[in-house]
Amino acid sequence: MLDRFKGALLGLALGDAMGAPFEGGLLEQVTWRILVGRKLRWTDDTDMAIGLAQWLVDDAALDPDALAMLWAERADWKRGYGPGALKTLTLIKTGMNWREANVVVFADGSMGNGAAMRAAPLGLAFHDDPERLSVTAALASSITHAHPIGVEGGVLIARATALALDPDLKPDAFLAELESGCEQDAFRSRLAQARRWLTSTPSHADVRKRLGTFVLADQSVVTAIYAFLRFRDDFEALLRYVVELGGDTDTIGAMAGALFGAHNGLRALPEIRLADLESRQEIAGLGKRLHETFGS
Ligand code: AR6
Ligand code: MG
Repeated sequence: MLDRFKGALLGLALGDAMGAPFEGGLLEQVTWRILVGRKLRWTDDTDMAIGLAQWLVDDAALDPDALAMLWAERADWKRGYGPGALKTLTLIKTGMNWREANVVVFADGSMGNGAAMRAAPLGLAFHDDPERLSVTAALASSITHAHPIGVEGGVLIARATALALDPDLKPDAFLAELESGCEQDAFRSRLAQARRWLTSTPSHADVRKRLGTFVLADQSVVTAIYAFLRFRDDFEALLRYVVELGGDTDTIGAMAGALFGAHNGLRALPEIRLADLESRQEIAGLGKRLHETFGS
């Protein structure tokens, strides 16, 4: 379990950092490469996942106001935050309650994949308590992503992470379980599509069209889950596939990488990549503390 907890966080960071150079247009890609140099530098996905993991281990009361402020204080545009999320976090930092700030940019809340990209630590913490997992993941999602699609994206990745810890994971049962716990048809229908693809191999174009690769939660979360299932024994192949699909490569990489790490553990992540990963020890240390607090 300890290896899986560390693997989930480091898989998230590695998937994020390996996907990041391929996200966005030419200008964004060039800017990112200038910022980064040779190191595997992660983005907002990992930044927020680290904040979430710190909150889980440090705040026994799990006060959402404290999580909102912790995220707001970490937020830094150089990490490539989504524009809506950055504005929401800036409002929180200047004193607005998150319950108001989360409907300023979009009146019905953000349905970006930002709640899902950071949700893996919740799946680790509450892996043996599905009810508490869903309630806490919904609350953590809604701090920045109040739209029902944004919220459920976060809950879905948290639930998938918890289920991925099972070394005997069966893809069909895994997808059926995720589908049965979903409220939004946008997720249910895509999970059902992914399930049909367990017995055939879709083209990249089909996956882009039916599951999506865009920043909205319903157009990327199931894509990451599907990619994980298809390449769950080879991290490099998984990230190659994510990059080939294109679109929001860092966030699909982060979500798929977290599931891979939760399932296979740190020992299955490529050492040659980990050696270049920013804050590798800090992230592994957080995995260890999460395990001490929630691992039994
Ligand atoms: N209505 C219309 N468009 C929306 C809505 C909505 N309710 N919600 C989101 N969008 P945001 P994130 C669109 O800004 O989810 C980073 O690269 C809108 O164009 O809340 O935290 C991360 O790494 C908005 O700007 O950010 C992720 O890859 C966009 O979705 C990605 O961005 C993203 O929502 C999403 O991050
Ligand atoms: Mg990102």
